[in-house]
Amino acid sequence: MEIFTHISDVKNYIHVKKIIGREIGFVPTMGALHEGHLSLIRASKNKELLTTASIFVNPAQFGPNEDFNKYPRPIEEDIELLKSVNCDVLFLPSVEEMYPEKAAVQMTMPLYTQKYEGEHRKGHFEGVMLVVAKLFNIVSPDVAFFGQKDFQQCAVVKQMVKDLSFPVKIEIIPTVREADGLAMSSRNRYLSAEERKKAVGIYQTLVYTKGLVQHEKNVENLIRHAYIYIEKFGFTQIDYIDIVQADTLQTLHIAEKENNPVMLITARCGTTRLLDNMYLYEN
Ligand code: PAJ
Repeated sequence: MEIFTHISDVKNYIHVKKIIGREIGFVPTMGALHEGHLSLIRASKNKELLTTASIFVNPAQFGPNEDFNKYPRPIEEDIELLKSVNCDVLFLPSVEEMYPEKAAVQMTMPLYTQKYEGEHRKGHFEGVMLVVAKLFNIVSPDVAFFGQKDFQQCAVVKQMVKDLSFPVKIEIIPTVREADGLAMSSRNRYLSAEERKKAVGIYQTLVYTKGLVQHEKNVENLIRHAYIYIEKFGFTQIDYIDIVQADTLQTLHIAEKENNPVMLITARCGTTRLLDNMYLYEN
């Protein structure tokens, strides 16, 4: 695996590969890699793309009271994991390399960022858009892979690519879960043993609602039942539970198959925020 820390070096390398006809698959990450990230790398490798991962804990997408400083950075382990799935290129820039000075450009997308993560993490998606746009310009991927786990992020990135005509195809990969159903996340390693047991309650509430929707389609009722169901797990706080139309993220009133409803849940286990989602009619 080729490892680059400078923008100009990775750009040159990819430029040459493109000249000889290689197509580029890109998997942006913040590291602390797990099977979820690796499934994105595998999806790219399966398409025979020259697979480039990036690891960059992007300060622009963390709020002042968030975990930027304590975000895990097990870089040696990450490199071994990337090698184990035959990732071709790793771009591993420093903060100074990416932001030699604070970016003056600001990107906003009120349409998709006023609720859910955008509401609870002010400035988060603005930081995500900035870094993803910058990484796309550096890596110039033909295909970029994102996880369904971050459902709102997928909507924001797809819309940004559409609006700004980035020449890249976005592929969304299903959420990879632990054996008990907990969605894999770099932040799961913050959980104590006791919190880890509770954490599965999010997945179980999604599955419960998916069962319920067979005979109860009223969204208000479904959400009320979900709140009652999740209560027994003892989360510190439920940030939101909602059912939205998958493409528009608009709240639904009736959860019918034609509307392609997705349930979004974010809850806190101790101080750790956990997010997950599920299509209510998918097999
Ligand atoms: P990070 O949280 O490291 O996630 C990198 C990619 O892995 C994202 O597309 C995310 O949705 C995906 N992912 C995370 N957990 C997953 C799981 N359990 N199953 C499948 N895919 C999963 O998301 C970010 O980083 C950042 O916001 C980034 C896009 C890199 C911009 O900084």
